Amino acid sequence: MAAFDTRYPSIDDLRKRAKQRIPRFAFEYLDGGCNEDINLYKNTVEIRETELRPVYLKDFAPVNLSCLLFGRRYNAPFGIAPVGLQGLMWPGAPQILAKAAKDHNIPFILSTVTTASIEKIAEVAEGNMWFQLYHPADQEITDDILLRLEAAGVDVLVVLCDVPSFGYRPRDIRNGLSMPPRMTAQNVLQILMRPRWGIETLVHGIPEFETMKRYMPKGLNIKQLGLYMNKTFSGRINAEKLKRLRDRWKGKMIMKGVATSEDAIMCVESDLDGIIVSNHGGRQLDAGQSSIGSLPGILESVRGKLTIMIDSGFQSGPDIARGLASGADFIFLGRTFMYGVAALGKRGGDHTISILKAQLQQVMEQLGCKDVIDLPSHLIKSRLS
Ligand SMILES: Cc1cc2nc3c(=O)[nH]c(=O)nc-3n(C[C@H](O)[C@H](O)[C@H](O)COP(=O)(O)O)c2cc1C
Repeated sequence: MAAFDTRYPSIDDLRKRAKQRIPRFAFEYLDGGCNEDINLYKNTVEIRETELRPVYLKDFAPVNLSCLLFGRRYNAPFGIAPVGLQGLMWPGAPQILAKAAKDHNIPFILSTVTTASIEKIAEVAEGNMWFQLYHPADQEITDDILLRLEAAGVDVLVVLCDVPSFGYRPRDIRNGLSMPPRMTAQNVLQILMRPRWGIETLVHGIPEFETMKRYMPKGLNIKQLGLYMNKTFSGRINAEKLKRLRDRWKGKMIMKGVATSEDAIMCVESDLDGIIVSNHGGRQLDAGQSSIGSLPGILESVRGKLTIMIDSGFQSGPDIARGLASGADFIFLGRTFMYGVAALGKRGGDHTISILKAQLQQVMEQLGCKDVIDLPSHLIKSRLS
């Protein structure tokens, strides 16, 4: 692993650098929430209202960041959330992040709609990859994807439930990025102002939906492609679809996007192994609760019955400590890792993970907390609990 780059010691430094390095339409796609960005803002603010209690006058052994999840020991209690269209933000981003996750032994979740295929990333990840299923309406596509996952040795399937409708994102609409990207004169101008991104994109090729490509009719124009994607991923998950998936998938199965006790209970009843409490990083329901705000009710309903992970709004080691102290078993981060790759290219994944580990280690040393599972004993208060 490379030496720590002291010019970028925080995620905010990486975010600022990313903004300078990639075209505006790509940065805004990554950075934004939906509607008025209320839910986006609330996610981090409410995580940071959680306070932790240090205990100084006692000895304790060196901090251990490792964490047991689904029978496997990971080196840290956080992982890389699935993000679509990653190659648009930095060419080769999924490969960079999958490799960094493998090197650091933390989970990497590949999105159905990102720019690298299941097979490519499975090679890089060497058994360290989970897959997020965007739940195609077409059963045959789902079945084929599951076969490909099995062939690639993926054993954790993450089903997404919080995109029954595409989020209303004014910046993306303005930028012609409603899915898939549209090259307006303005976008071309923005690319010309970010030559490094432009050159890297030429080297890697125009980003495509590599996992989905084989199911898509060839020769679609951009408008037809948009319609195809909308049609393919439309629809909600219900008990019947969930049962079919659960009966079919032999590995671990997780629901991502759970925001209420009601849905969490349904996941227990459907025999799932875990949930990711999430509001999609504030990109779907601006009027919704923060993700950390929905955690206490969910814990009350289903704690001990499945693994409860969380994402949305976590951007630092102290944030991760706050989430774990609040009762989550594991934390995922989305934008944070993409800022790292957009800022530093190939070094970005490793550097971002190193920042988070160093920060989390410091918090735990400061608290006098040896193991991540002991963090809840340092919780003072959450305004929300
Ligand atoms: C640009 C972008 C694209 C995303 N694409 C997906 C996706 O394809 N599938 C998915 O399950 N979640 C997707 N998400 C949501 C993330 O998995 C995760 O829930 C969210 O980023 C967590 O919030 P954070 O960015 O504040 O860490 C996306 C998020 C962002 C920012």
